[in-house]
Amino acid sequence: MLPFTRPSIGEEEQRAVAEVLASGWLATGPRVAAFEQALADYLGGGVTVRVFNSGTSALEAALIASGIGPGDEVIIPAMSFVATANVVVRAGAVPVFVDVDPVSRNLSVNTVETALTTQTRAIMPVHFAGRGVEMEPLRELARERGLLVIEDAAQAVGTRIDDTPVGASGNPVCFSFHPNKNMTTIEGGALACNDSGLIRRAERIRFHGIERDAEGVMDVLDWGGKMNMPDVNAAVGLVQLTRLERFNQRRRELALGYIEKLPRHPAMTLPVDVPGHSWHMFCVCVDFKALGTNRSAFQDRLRSLGVGTGVHYPAMHLYSHYRKFGYEPGDLPAAERIGEQTLTLPLFPAMTGDDLGRVCGAFEQLLRGGAS
Ligand SMILES: Cc1ncc(COP(=O)(O)O)c(C=O)c1O
Repeated sequence: MLPFTRPSIGEEEQRAVAEVLASGWLATGPRVAAFEQALADYLGGGVTVRVFNSGTSALEAALIASGIGPGDEVIIPAMSFVATANVVVRAGAVPVFVDVDPVSRNLSVNTVETALTTQTRAIMPVHFAGRGVEMEPLRELARERGLLVIEDAAQAVGTRIDDTPVGASGNPVCFSFHPNKNMTTIEGGALACNDSGLIRRAERIRFHGIERDAEGVMDVLDWGGKMNMPDVNAAVGLVQLTRLERFNQRRRELALGYIEKLPRHPAMTLPVDVPGHSWHMFCVCVDFKALGTNRSAFQDRLRSLGVGTGVHYPAMHLYSHYRKFGYEPGDLPAAERIGEQTLTLPLFPAMTGDDLGRVCGAFEQLLRGGAS
């Protein structure tokens, strides 16, 4: 059975973990410091990086450290993992969902403009499945309107936009290192930015609000949580980072293989490659109704042919919790259609050409031979 994703963990990662376990220092320590520096060097642009116990924590810290709170609205795409919306609520602000482009699944400056109000404080684009958002028009709008830009780059480790790594821009950018991401620390996340004040606040939010003076005397300046990354995880990340470019190169080869070899069918829409795409996921849209079936039956048929798939994601504004903010079906049609039709195909660096052929063959069988 081919899963839709699988982390690539090798002997080097295992050795690195064993070394930390033997060192006697398991929680945040020298490996975290080294990992933060290695990530900053990888991204370039003079940014500082702080790591967290998850991408969700990094986003929470970025929002709160940016001063976002009650009375503020944060514009986000309706198509993302629900953490993107949940962190806005956690900060005390209101998420304002906007529709996305049907192909890139990313928000655009046009959809953002329709959602601006006097309460808008920030725009939080999501680089969906590793495809970079067109950032320059968004930055220009943000400059004109005095808005913050905080990037949810959970799915975009290694993505480049105009040949610059996502994360090197200087505004707050958050990554996830969950096991299904392009590199993993088991669980973990990172915040990159070039604002030293924001980094200081994020450090305090990460660890109980604690700040120490030059003599090491502890004070608590404001609220803080417990969001630090242990050294065990950082040790895994240090190794994974050295493999990231190879991982992403393999992801690209596989994605291009799918684009070339999957059957062309009027009921199926494929994603499109662009320079710098890091191919975190390969998500197609299938018009299940037109095929006389539904998604779960289609997934069952694929499973019986040895192919695992995922669903990324239902449109967020239609989750029960977010309907309470006043959203209804029909409000954001492109995100809703993606939510109904999306299917994630297997894509991970250890996948072979034969695996890819098996997936393409299964689609050939289901699309040409009847899916129901
Ligand atoms: C777009 C997006 N944002 C945020 C997150 C949260 O990251 P984590 O799972 O590391 O907390 C994820 C994780 O899947 C994600 O895909």
